[in-house]
Amino acid sequence: MEHATAGSSFAALAYLIAGVCFILALRGLSSPTSSQRGNRFGMIGMTIAVVTTLVTHVPLQAVGLVLTDPSGVVASTGPLFERIDWLTVLEILAAIGIGAVIGISTARRIAMTAMPQLVAAFHSLVGLAAVLVAAAAYLNPSAFGIADLVVPLIGPPFAVIHQVSRIEMGLGVAIGAITFSGSVIAFLKLNGNMGGKPILLPGRHVLNLGVLAAILLLVAYFTQDQSPWVFWTITALSFAIGFLLIIPIGGADMPVVVSMLNSYSGWAAAAMGFTLHNSAMIITGALVGSSGAILSYIMCRAMNRSFLSVIAGGFGADSGGASGGAAQVDRPWKRGSAEDAAFLMSQAEQVVIVPGYGMAVAQAQHVLREMADKLKAHGVRVKYAIHPVAGRMPGHMNVLLAEANVPYDEVFELEDINAEFAQTDVAFVIGANDVTNPAAKTDKSSPIYGMPVLDVEKAKTVLFVKRSMGGVGYAGVDNDVFYRDNTMMLLADAKKMVEDIVKSLD
Ligand code: TAP
Repeated sequence: MEHATAGSSFAALAYLIAGVCFILALRGLSSPTSSQRGNRFGMIGMTIAVVTTLVTHVPLQAVGLVLTDPSGVVASTGPLFERIDWLTVLEILAAIGIGAVIGISTARRIAMTAMPQLVAAFHSLVGLAAVLVAAAAYLNPSAFGIADLVVPLIGPPFAVIHQVSRIEMGLGVAIGAITFSGSVIAFLKLNGNMGGKPILLPGRHVLNLGVLAAILLLVAYFTQDQSPWVFWTITALSFAIGFLLIIPIGGADMPVVVSMLNSYSGWAAAAMGFTLHNSAMIITGALVGSSGAILSYIMCRAMNRSFLSVIAGGFGADSGGASGGAAQVDRPWKRGSAEDAAFLMSQAEQVVIVPGYGMAVAQAQHVLREMADKLKAHGVRVKYAIHPVAGRMPGHMNVLLAEANVPYDEVFELEDINAEFAQTDVAFVIGANDVTNPAAKTDKSSPIYGMPVLDVEKAKTVLFVKRSMGGVGYAGVDNDVFYRDNTMMLLADAKKMVEDIVKSLD
């Protein structure tokens, strides 16, 4: 048995500490009050993991006289010693530097509303990295210490990859390729480069199942035969299935897709960790994979989707796709002004604010809190109702409201506030649309059918802030609340409208 060197026990301890930091990070991120602490733990853990990997894998080169026979096998050596391979060190540092510059500048420039596509892009990189690591290990297994060199009587020596490594490699390349192509499609859809409408191929369920079965059979066959065609066919089929699984998914279901791909990227990283014998990657990958799976499960419940059909892909596409259509501007509706809104709210006993994506786009959260403060000064009780998929990423609204210092005890989740709309004087919907659409409760042909929504229409008055009657929400469907008798449309940019309401309240 191999004895652990001082270096490897140091690495094991350091990776363990990094793993504990990641667990504390996840714990911290579970609540807005502790999320900053959670982020700090994540950063510390990642720094420990990266530095440990660099310190324990310093590239060395042998210096001295090495004599080889014509087939390349070492025949005899002179005095040999190892020295640091500074060129490789420099290459690694340059790669880290370039990555850091790209990462920091992207993080500084990216708008909060573009976060989901950024996350999808990052997932695609994790998937691609897993594919590249698996390919590198396949092409040069001896360098990864995962093969035995066989010297036949006739012909050149060749490497036989260990069976367990073939399983890790096969699964790693498959999950990595699915994560890569799936995330690229998710990115294109979220970024608007591809339409949000589901693309439904005929017989797609049979096709998907067939491709998935073929991948699993080939991974099993790979343990017996390490021929290049097996490895590259697994890779190609996995790229294809990632693409096939995500194209049928329509707009409103994208949040679940992002968290599902998050989970896949974790498993891809864990598979890479096995190939590279890196316990930090195995721990981190498993944490990301399982927390992503739990998040997907929670989001499925929030959206009333079946978890199993999400994992199988193509969910939510049979329910009529993007039916429903754009706003029916020819139906009668009522328009109000900032003064009307200020008057109605100042007379109310309770106002429930429903923020959505439009509030994020307009960055209206700060002035919204100012408006709430003024209403409270008028003796009005103010609450915020948060839908689990409001905005464009999990927790989007919570983050924005926390940024504007909205007290946490005024912020309520859907299940805790929904029953209160019936006793609420004013529901103030600001830049939200799909999450208030009653069609989700009644219209089976609607793409959002089945998703729980905030029952804003039950309030005495609904004030609905959006820019125009023509604009629809993410799912691309009209909202009946616009045309109800108790609704007053406040058509303007969210920030501008709330600023005007604040002036009127003064
Ligand atoms: P949406 O249904 O997308 O509606 C946004 C509304 O904001 C629209 O009515 C739009 O109408 C209005 N708006 C846009 N810019 C505005 C501005 N500057 N000022 C005022 N209003 C503005 O938003 P939602 O209700 O938050 O629902 C979220 C949707 O996104 C759901 O379908 C969800 O499934 C999907 N989604 C969620 C996530 C996550 S994880 N949260 C991720 C991806 C997708 P106008 O254009 O007329 O102004």
